[in-house]
Amino acid sequence: MQISPNTIGIDGQEIPFTTGQTIMDAALAAKVYIPHLCHYPGLTPSGNCRLCMVEIGNRSVAACITPAVAGQEIRNNTPELNEMRKAITQMLFVEGNHICPSCEKTGNCKLQAMGYYLGMLDDRFPQFYQRREVDASHAGILLDRGRCILCDLCVRASRDVDGKNVFAIAGRGTDAHLIVNSPTGKLADSALKTTDLAATICPVGAILIKEQGYLVPIGQRMHDQHTIRETSLLENIVKSNDD
Ligand code: SF4
Ligand code: FES
Repeated sequence: MQISPNTIGIDGQEIPFTTGQTIMDAALAAKVYIPHLCHYPGLTPSGNCRLCMVEIGNRSVAACITPAVAGQEIRNNTPELNEMRKAITQMLFVEGNHICPSCEKTGNCKLQAMGYYLGMLDDRFPQFYQRREVDASHAGILLDRGRCILCDLCVRASRDVDGKNVFAIAGRGTDAHLIVNSPTGKLADSALKTTDLAATICPVGAILIKEQGYLVPIGQRMHDQHTIRETSLLENIVKSNDD
């Protein structure tokens, strides 16, 4: 494949990029989907979900944190990579309490949509059944840590967009958990508002706006109508138009 300056190749397709863009930025701008859960257009990438792993030669890299460099030949949509992404998704499912039929977020959940997109038919791994604290103290917002996938999006949204630093991730490995920056450690005593990006960015049902869970009936929700590929590409277009 002939690659001209300032382009990369993804699965044989020539994709333009500008200096400073990551592989993910360039791919999404060209409407090429690289699966992701912890990337959100406009927020500093954290590279922690590993769904966006792609291959360049013999190397595997996270597309959301790897700069685009002219001439890169990238493999993305391959059976092997999608199988690896499915295994990661299955691990995320068993590590938390993702009981989709009883979750308010069903149909709007990116983890659930990723499972469908990757053809996940079972959990594959044993369930952890973690007991993690639920914080229902806030008048308008619920935090269920049992559903948190530690994607770090609320942390970055609160810090970089809302300017509040309400959330942080403490601990490591299986002890890692979301903490709330307030005198009591409870959401009610934090600066979080329902209008904050941090209150609405959660890809799963860990942070929910109260009393809105069933405004849209099950069957008519975002991922009941559209795949995560479609909504992720749209999310990027909407953000680009806002800038
Ligand atoms: Fe991500 Fe939601 Fe957990 Fe925040 S609460 S780290 S947005 S899964
Ligand atoms: Fe790249 Fe999560 S989207 S690591």
